[in-house]
Amino acid sequence: MIRSWSTWPLRVRLVVTMTVLFAAVLGAIGVASAALLHENLMANLNNQVQDTFMRAAGPGGKDHFMVGPGLAQDAVGVVLDQNGTAQMNGRSDYVTRTLTAGQIAALAAVPADGAFHDITVPGLGAYRALSDPAQGPGSPADSRVVVALPEAHVGETVSELIVTEAVLGVAGVILVGFVGFGLIRVSLRPLDRVAATAARISMLPLHEGEVGRLNRVPAQDTDPRTESGLVGASLNRMIDHVSAALEARHASETRVRQFVADASHELRTPLASIKGYAELTRRSRESVPPDAAYALGRVESEATRMTALVEDLLLLARLDAGRPLEREPVDLAPLVVDAVRDAHAAVPDHRWEVRLPEDAAAEVVGDENRLRQVLVNLLANAGKHTPAGTTVTASLTCEDRWAVLAVADDGPGIPQELLPTVFERFARGDGSRSRKAGSTGLGLAIVAAVVASHGGQVWVTSEPGETVFTVRLPLETSALPAVAVAATS
Ligand SMILES: Nc1ncnc2c1ncn2[C@@H]1O[C@H](COP(=O)(O)OP(=O)(O)O)[C@@H](O)[C@H]1O
Ligand SMILES: [Mg+2]
Repeated sequence: MIRSWSTWPLRVRLVVTMTVLFAAVLGAIGVASAALLHENLMANLNNQVQDTFMRAAGPGGKDHFMVGPGLAQDAVGVVLDQNGTAQMNGRSDYVTRTLTAGQIAALAAVPADGAFHDITVPGLGAYRALSDPAQGPGSPADSRVVVALPEAHVGETVSELIVTEAVLGVAGVILVGFVGFGLIRVSLRPLDRVAATAARISMLPLHEGEVGRLNRVPAQDTDPRTESGLVGASLNRMIDHVSAALEARHASETRVRQFVADASHELRTPLASIKGYAELTRRSRESVPPDAAYALGRVESEATRMTALVEDLLLLARLDAGRPLEREPVDLAPLVVDAVRDAHAAVPDHRWEVRLPEDAAAEVVGDENRLRQVLVNLLANAGKHTPAGTTVTASLTCEDRWAVLAVADDGPGIPQELLPTVFERFARGDGSRSRKAGSTGLGLAIVAAVVASHGGQVWVTSEPGETVFTVRLPLETSALPAVAVAATS
């Protein structure tokens, strides 16, 4: 199917338009010149016919019809008496030759009106004929003369012209097409470069982080006196605006992060004081009435909860800032053992199990403290969001180029509606149990951020009786290029 004209590339449309117009003009010139030539040659022929008419009888009188000097070759003629019967006929061919009956009849049929007529003489072809009632010179009284000259060379000359014009025209159209295509391509090349610049920018991840300097259109393509330069210059202006906007966004993001980090940091000390004083006052039992002791207990536990929140916020703000991680080899096995032991101590009413690889060492490159945080958060969740008696299994395996860490429990699972957003900040189950346990909703967000900054992945599957968090980190041996880690800040 032919696509609609407006969807064709501009260069094709330009070339097609140009060549079609050129061909049309050439055609018009050709037709006009052929018509003009034909008209001219016909006028010429008419003169010759007229001339032949005058000379037909020749100097020798009626016996020498069609033999006079200056007669055009192949001129034919007849002399008719008043009954229309041919008296003489002939064809000038250096020697006069008689015409056949059919040829004579064709000539005799020419009306005697003094005008030129196109006729066909049998055996000879197209002729231009003239018959005049006025007597030809030297012809008998009451007779009339008809003479005719062949039109063949008029037709030949005109067709020769047409053929020449057609050959030259086709060659010209082809030439114009090629040269035009080349010219247009060269002149549209700057536009291609402008488009390439736009395409490159459109592929950049502009939605987050620091974008850095955007590639602008090269100066050679930004001359506003040309159309493509105008586009290039406009694009550059737009790129500058976008750059400025992105920088502003990044600066404001950085400010917010810095603010959160600073605020969290500043809150730590007063929170520790509140907690400390509340505890101190509560302990001095004699002076505190039971109501106040209860209130102080609440202050203390809320301060503890707030401390946890502030610590998490601070950690997240630091992860967001994309500060360079420690990059040293970390053996995950002892990390798992320690973390499970701690979890066991904190939540003794659960069953804790560890499965480690027997052969391979699961060594990854990264920040030990942050990786420990991942384990602590996952194990804390498995202890906190499940009832007593739940079995929690932490396992470590090596698969291909990955260290795979899984924390599984047979608790009630994560609510279905929470599951898709469970790694988001402040996403948490609304169960009173989790609130009581000092839930912040930031634990899994931290896990996700740490894992991502190590070039790994984390995901969860959960149904009642089986909840598994799986973390995949690139093994040290997989020689992950440093940029991959840095890029996922
Ligand atoms: N092992 C688990 N079993 C059931 N629910 C879980 C488990 N782990 C996480 N959750 C749910 O996911 C929510 C988000 O977890 P998290 O980000 O660590 O926040 P927090 O633990 O502070 O509530 C929790 O509030 C809880 O509802
Ligand atoms: Mg948690």
